[in-house]
Amino acid sequence: MSFDTTSDNRRMTHFDAHESVWLFGYGSLIWKADFDYLERRPASIGGWTRRFWQGSHDHRGTPDSPGRVATLVPAAEAICHGMAYRISPSLFAQLDHREKNGYLRVITPMTFEDGRQAEGVVYLAGEDNAAYLGPAAPDAIARQIATSHGPSGPNRDYLLNLAQSLRELGVDDDHVFALERELLR
Ligand code: SIN
Repeated sequence: MSFDTTSDNRRMTHFDAHESVWLFGYGSLIWKADFDYLERRPASIGGWTRRFWQGSHDHRGTPDSPGRVATLVPAAEAICHGMAYRISPSLFAQLDHREKNGYLRVITPMTFEDGRQAEGVVYLAGEDNAAYLGPAAPDAIARQIATSHGPSGPNRDYLLNLAQSLRELGVDDDHVFALERELLR
C-alpha cells in the first residue's frame, strides 16, 4: 500500500447517504478536534488496543525521520476508550487528508457510556501500510518521540496531549502512560 491512503478512503462510500455518522477517535482525534462536529461523546470499541506503532511522515515527523503516533492493533479481550464525534459524511474529505499517512476508514460498532451502541467509522493504520513501524521497547519508542518533529509540531506534544486527555476521560492506558513516564524521565 502506498504512503497516501486518500484515494483508498474515497472509495469507502458506505455512509455517504447518511445524514450523520459516528467517528471514533483514539489518538489525536481525541485531543485535536479541529473539525466541525455535531456532537461528541466518550465511547469505546472492543477487540482493539492503542499502540504507538505507526510512523508519522507528515504530522509529527518527516519522511527521513518519522515520528511515532497511535494506531490500534487487534487484541481479543481489549477495550479501547476514546471519543466519538457525530459528523456529516461530507467531513470525510477533510479527515481523509488529515489521516492520509497510512490510515484507512474501517466500519466499527462503538459503545457509549450509557451502554447504547452505534455503527460508525474508525481510522486504522494496519501493519500492511507503508508507514507502519511496529513494536519496539518503551524506552526506544519514547526516545524516537522525544526527538521527532514534523509540520504539525513536536512528536512529544502528541503523546503528552493524548496522555492528559485520557486522564481527563478517566481512562487507564498502560502503554500510553508508560511511554509518557519514559519521555519525561
Ligand atoms: C485517531 O486519533 O483516531 C486516529 C489517529 C490519529 O489521528 O492520531
